[in-house]
Amino acid sequence: MVEQSPKVLVVGASGTVGRHVTSGLLRSGAEVLALTREPERATQLPSGATLVRGDLTDPESLAAAAREVDAVFLAWPLHSAEGAAEAVAALTGNARRVVYLSSAAVRDVPGGEPESPGRPDAEVEALIVRSGVRYTFLRPHGFMANALRWAAEIRATGLVRGYGGAAGLTLVDERDIAAVAVRALTEDGHHGARYALTGPASPTQAEQVRIIGAAVGRPVRWEEISRAAARRQLVDSGWPLGIVDGALDFVAARVDAPEPVTGTVLDVTGTPARSLHDWAVEHADRFR
Ligand SMILES: NC(=O)c1ccc[n+]([C@@H]2O[C@H](COP(=O)([O-])OP(=O)(O)OC[C@H]3O[C@@H](n4cnc5c(N)ncnc54)[C@H](OP(=O)(O)O)[C@@H]3O)[C@@H](O)[C@H]2O)c1
Repeated sequence: MVEQSPKVLVVGASGTVGRHVTSGLLRSGAEVLALTREPERATQLPSGATLVRGDLTDPESLAAAAREVDAVFLAWPLHSAEGAAEAVAALTGNARRVVYLSSAAVRDVPGGEPESPGRPDAEVEALIVRSGVRYTFLRPHGFMANALRWAAEIRATGLVRGYGGAAGLTLVDERDIAAVAVRALTEDGHHGARYALTGPASPTQAEQVRIIGAAVGRPVRWEEISRAAARRQLVDSGWPLGIVDGALDFVAARVDAPEPVTGTVLDVTGTPARSLHDWAVEHADRFR
C-alpha cells in the first residue's frame, strides 16, 4: 500500500544518493524535510524540499528535525559508529520507519550479529533493529559515481592507472539505490528487508574504463600498478590504515570470483537496474 503524502526526513539530502531520494520523494508526492549542516550552502537541493539544519553529531538537532516525521532516510557517512546510539535514538523517537543506506560490506553471520569490519554499517544496523522502529536496510555495492575518481586522469591522459584491472566489480547507479529507498519509505511491505543492490553486470575494472571511453567517445585504457603502489596511493589520500589492506585483498579476490549481481532493483521498483554505459553517457561531460 502506498502512503498518502508521508512526511519524510532525509539525512544526507545533499549527498550522492540522498539528493536523488529527495527528488524521488517529491515526485511521489511526499513532503520532504532535507537535513543539512549548512542550509545556506545547500543550493543544489531541489526546490520543494524544506531545508532543516542538523548534524549527525548533535542528537538534539536530529530530534528536533524528526519531531513530526513519518519516516527517515538515514545515511551515516562517518568513519565510526561513535555517537550513532544517540543519533538513532533521536531519529526514531517519533518516526514509524527508517530506511538506512548501509552497504554491501555488511556480512550476515549465521547465528550471530552481522559484521562490517572497519566500517560502522553493521553497528548502525544493529542500533536501528534494537530501537524497535520498522526498518529497511539498503546494502549497495560500489556506486557508479565512484568512477568520477577517474575523471581527471581520463580527461588528461585517456589512461587509468590502478590495481586489480581484472577484478569483476558490480557498480550500481545511485538513482537506482534512491528509487528503492523511495519505495521503502512510502510503501508497506519492506520492513525487515536487507536489500543487496547491484547494477546489471560485474565488468572488470579494465572493462569499466573501456565502457566509459565508449560512452564518452574516446578510447580509454587501463594500466595496472603494483599492490604496493596502490597501497601507497590509498594511504596518501587519507584512507584509514585499518581498512586499506582489507580493501586491496577484496579487489584481488574478485579476479577469480567476480561480485554476483542481484535482481533486487527490478524486484522492488519494477524497472531494471541501469547500466554503467547509460550512467557514463549521462555523465560524459565530466570525462571530456
Ligand atoms: N561510495 C560507495 O561506493 C558506497 C557504497 C556503499 C555504501 N556507501 C555509503 O553511502 C553513504 C554515502 O556515501 P558518500 O560518500 O556518497 O557520501 P555523500 O552521501 O555524498 O556525502 C555526505 C552527505 O552526508 C551529509 N553529512 C556528512 N556529515 C554529516 C554530519 N555530521 N551530519 C549530517 N549530515 C552529514 C552531507 O550533508 P551536508 O554537507 O549538506 O551537511 C552530505 O549530504 C556512506 O554512508 C557510505 O558508507 C557508499
